[in-house]
Amino acid sequence: MGAQRRAVLAAGAAAAVSLAAGCGDGDGGTPEPTGSPAGTPTSPTPSDGASGSAPASPAGEELTAASEVPVGGGVVLADQEVVVTQPQEGEFRAFSAICTHQGCTVASVGDGLIACPCHGSRFRVADGSVAVGPATRPLPPKQITVSGDSVRLV
Ligand code: FES
Repeated sequence: MGAQRRAVLAAGAAAAVSLAAGCGDGDGGTPEPTGSPAGTPTSPTPSDGASGSAPASPAGEELTAASEVPVGGGVVLADQEVVVTQPQEGEFRAFSAICTHQGCTVASVGDGLIACPCHGSRFRVADGSVAVGPATRPLPPKQITVSGDSVRLV
């Protein structure tokens, strides 16, 4: 007689060591472009109902009298942050009075140039372009109308 022994050998449970190799650091040399969705969603929605008006900007705000704007020069309207110029007689222009360098308000117009007092930038009265730096971008134009002696924002 013999006692049988069964040696139950548990099947080797392989301890699977999962090598998580998913987080590979890159070299950092792949800058992702910031998402700039180009294009507008085109969803034709039949909007028959005029749902409210948007009185956003006071169109037609009077800026100055045309006679106040010297030919070849201009006037700075600090409150409205607009500079109105008259490069040639009867030809009026308007630009943002906020300097494109660091945001000072331009202070004066003379010799055909709009002057920023902060760092000395100068912009041409005809088109707002930079005549003297450090600013590198022109003054943004503003839309105006001249009726009679009144210069107004559009
Ligand atoms: Fe106008 Fe610097 S903010 S020149």
